[in-house]
Amino acid sequence: MLDIRDLAMVYANGHRALNSVSFRIEQGEIVAIIGRSGAGKSTLLRCINGLERPSAGTIRFGDQQITGMDDRQLERLRSRIGFIWQEYNLIERLPVLTNVLTGRLGYNRGFKSFLGYFDRQHREIALRNLERVNLLSHAVQRADRLSGGEKQRVAIARAMSQEPHMLLADEPVASLDPELAWQVMSDLARVAREDQVLTVISIHQVELAKAFADRIIGIARGEVVFDGPPAQLDQATLDRVYRFDKPAAVAVGV
Ligand SMILES: Nc1ncnc2c1ncn2[C@@H]1O[C@H](COP(=O)(O)OP(=O)(O)OP(=O)(O)O)[C@@H](O)[C@H]1O
Ligand SMILES: [Mg+2]
Repeated sequence: MLDIRDLAMVYANGHRALNSVSFRIEQGEIVAIIGRSGAGKSTLLRCINGLERPSAGTIRFGDQQITGMDDRQLERLRSRIGFIWQEYNLIERLPVLTNVLTGRLGYNRGFKSFLGYFDRQHREIALRNLERVNLLSHAVQRADRLSGGEKQRVAIARAMSQEPHMLLADEPVASLDPELAWQVMSDLARVAREDQVLTVISIHQVELAKAFADRIIGIARGEVVFDGPPAQLDQATLDRVYRFDKPAAVAVGV
């Protein structure tokens, strides 16, 4: 369970990126965060994994309070949060399997991982997760030889190899064409559901959010303006989420 209460984030330059954000996500739920560019989606995800310290409010995950953790506790927490970025963040010159094995680093600390040695149990987990995204046949290939869609599926296998308690994805399909975006979202949602992992995905494509999420949270200017099932996301709500800042003259109909 992820419980966010009255979260606010004011950056050092005074910009208020999040304001009074509250919601609760249950184990196994897949939630899509939608909103215009600059709405605060990435800020919210970075607060959840502790990369950003919010100015006010609390974030609880299970029986842990993320807000208030010290750096060591955050590091331990992050080893159990699978993070998927728009730009994949793979180690390009290394083989696919090695990239997936980096998801096991939190379990394979010290000298062994320094030498790049992972014992059989870790390799089996990594291989199984590659198989789940249909990339077992690419295991020994260098990551830089893969297409964008394949790279993101490797990133999904890496995140799942962490045996994560929570998955966070920040615009995971923004760099892909529509067909690949659909395929990657479908893989992501499938493995998250199979493992019953609480998942939060920021995404621009509303139709993908509707197709794959159990619930959608719409953010506009740092505030939650919609929180509900995809079926309730009608045009009026979308207008509220994506409204443009109209000049005053237009707003009064002049
Ligand atoms: N380090 C920072 N310092 C100051 N302002 C920031 C910082 N990071 C983000 N912002 C501002 O906070 C607001 C929210 O940014 P954020 O990156 O969370 O938006 P977003 O919804 O993820 O947008 P996008 O869809 O473009 O990724 C934006 O106005 C952004 O310019
Ligand atoms: Mg962003």
